Amino acid sequence: MNSVKIVGAGALGREVLAALRVLGDEVRCFLVEPGFAGAPIRGIPVQQIEQRDDTWGDARYVLAVGVNDARLRLTQTLGETAEYATVIHPAAVIGPYVEIAAGAMIIGRVSMTTDIGIGRHSLINPGCNISHDCRVGDFASLGPGVSLAGRVTIEEGANLGVGAVVAPGVVVGAWSTVGAGAVVIRNVEPGATVVGVPARPIVRRPLQGV
Ligand SMILES: CC(C)(COP(=O)(O)OP(=O)(O)OC[C@H]1O[C@@H](n2cnc3c(N)ncnc32)[C@H](O)[C@@H]1OP(=O)(O)O)[C@@H](O)C(=O)NCCC(=O)NCCS
Repeated sequence: MNSVKIVGAGALGREVLAALRVLGDEVRCFLVEPGFAGAPIRGIPVQQIEQRDDTWGDARYVLAVGVNDARLRLTQTLGETAEYATVIHPAAVIGPYVEIAAGAMIIGRVSMTTDIGIGRHSLINPGCNISHDCRVGDFASLGPGVSLAGRVTIEEGANLGVGAVVAPGVVVGAWSTVGAGAVVIRNVEPGATVVGVPARPIVRRPLQGV
């Protein structure tokens, strides 16, 4: 049985909690960033990450925050000595020769065949299908129902929306975004956003008031 501290108490935090409960693991606390303090969630105490105590020093962290670069930032906050649990929902079907790095979150029914690498603090949502010889980079996330054909590379921090499909051998660049339902048949440039069938780049509007 693992003993875990969940960083993040939003929707992904609750999904990770659900997976850990199915696994029978022990969740010691939720840790949140300033501004997110709160009452216990499902009986589990919530602490500010900056004021965390060592009461649960043996428990390992899971970075259950949906924004990919926020997970990267949290690894810097927690420092090099932090230890991370890997969450693999028991409904996942994972073949031989699949390497899953520390901190990865596989939170539901997922299929992975063989010769696959899954990076640190990556997020694989329910319903994903990952075929032979794929690589999913550190901090990347696959939305629900994403399908990766063989030999696909998802680079660090890339974010694939629900139901996206990636054709064989395609490279999805670092910190890029793939829209919901896109069919990606050509490589995606780092930092780009692509949408549609076939997926094409769009220029996103800057956020207002930030
Ligand atoms: C791609 C995405 C990130 C773009 O978000 P955005 O920057 O706010 O973009 P906008 O909503 O301003 O849309 C910009 C243009 O792209 C189009 N577009 C956006 N998302 C699209 C998609 N998934 N498929 C096709 N076209 C899309 C819009 O219609 C709009 O076109 P227009 O300018 O001709 O009207 C977002 O639409 C998306 O698909 N997110 C995926 C979310 C998801 O699945 N998350 C998983 C959570 S587990």
